[in-house]
Amino acid sequence: KTIALLTGGTTGEWVVSVKSAATIAHNIDTTKYEVYKIMLTENGWFYEPADSVKIEVDKNDFSLHLKGKKIVFDGVFIAIHGSPGEDGKLQGYFDMLGIPYTTCNALTSSITMNKGYTKAIVDGIKNLNVAKSLQLFKEDYSIEEVKSQLKLPLFVKPNNGGSSIGMSKVKNFDDLQAALDKAFNEDTQVLVEEFVEGREFSIGVFKTKGKIVVLPTTEVKTKNEFFDFDAKYTPGVTEEITPGDMSEEEKARVEQVVADVYQKLNCRGIVRIDYFLEHHTGKFYFIEINTIPGQTATSFIPQQVAAMGMKLQDFYTQVIEETI
Ligand code: DAL
Ligand code: MG
Repeated sequence: KTIALLTGGTTGEWVVSVKSAATIAHNIDTTKYEVYKIMLTENGWFYEPADSVKIEVDKNDFSLHLKGKKIVFDGVFIAIHGSPGEDGKLQGYFDMLGIPYTTCNALTSSITMNKGYTKAIVDGIKNLNVAKSLQLFKEDYSIEEVKSQLKLPLFVKPNNGGSSIGMSKVKNFDDLQAALDKAFNEDTQVLVEEFVEGREFSIGVFKTKGKIVVLPTTEVKTKNEFFDFDAKYTPGVTEEITPGDMSEEEKARVEQVVADVYQKLNCRGIVRIDYFLEHHTGKFYFIEINTIPGQTATSFIPQQVAAMGMKLQDFYTQVIEETI
């Protein structure tokens, strides 16, 4: 199969995307797949062969014209975090062209890009809770409403962001306005969420041969105030334990919960769900779902695949065979 590995993107997460694509390119089975890495930028989509100048993709049919030959793709491995790879835009484009891809469909991708809308959908799932929150709109919100309805500490997040860009933890209402301004700088919708006192985990899920497979969970113990951009991508700042320490009952419960989330949101390919295990109650709280989770050297999915005893190469092959 001829596969395009699509990376780059138009948000602050593009640097992460480039690293994710590097892991995938390094591990993908090149005896099975002919892989062309394509970089999506604001100024065009380019294939950059080592020995030649950049070649721009023909967006009419997503083909490449290479040394007098036209290359068309059997499928696309999308490794773009944030827009336009994780929010349904590219999914819609490839649907129009009839080219299969490795991720969730356009609708699921766009809904799950919005943390507030996603919370509303997963709220009904058995054994899964959502932290109390308010969704604010840039042109029309009341800081007084936040203060009267939510308890400190609070997380303030751009509603469609990723990698914690534009996010703050607020422990004092005096800091709330600055945190809102920072988040509104990234997005016109902001989610303000109550803090859950508990342990933080993240868990990957994918499908192979029609069956949902849940990877071993990772516990996140960061030295930073929360799992921010620095904590996510600077080795040593965060301790990541895979498999995370959990009782058999908790493990069984969370595996059922995340499989239910995968199904209810009609997911495809690899997704990763972030959640808290509340100290006092032992309840699981949904944080968010990432439909194009990081595959960088410090990301969870490669660690979880290794903890399962699976080779990354076999994992990517299973994902490609299932979706393309
Ligand atoms: N948004 C980042 C890439 C992640 O979830 O891994
Ligand atoms: Mg995330």
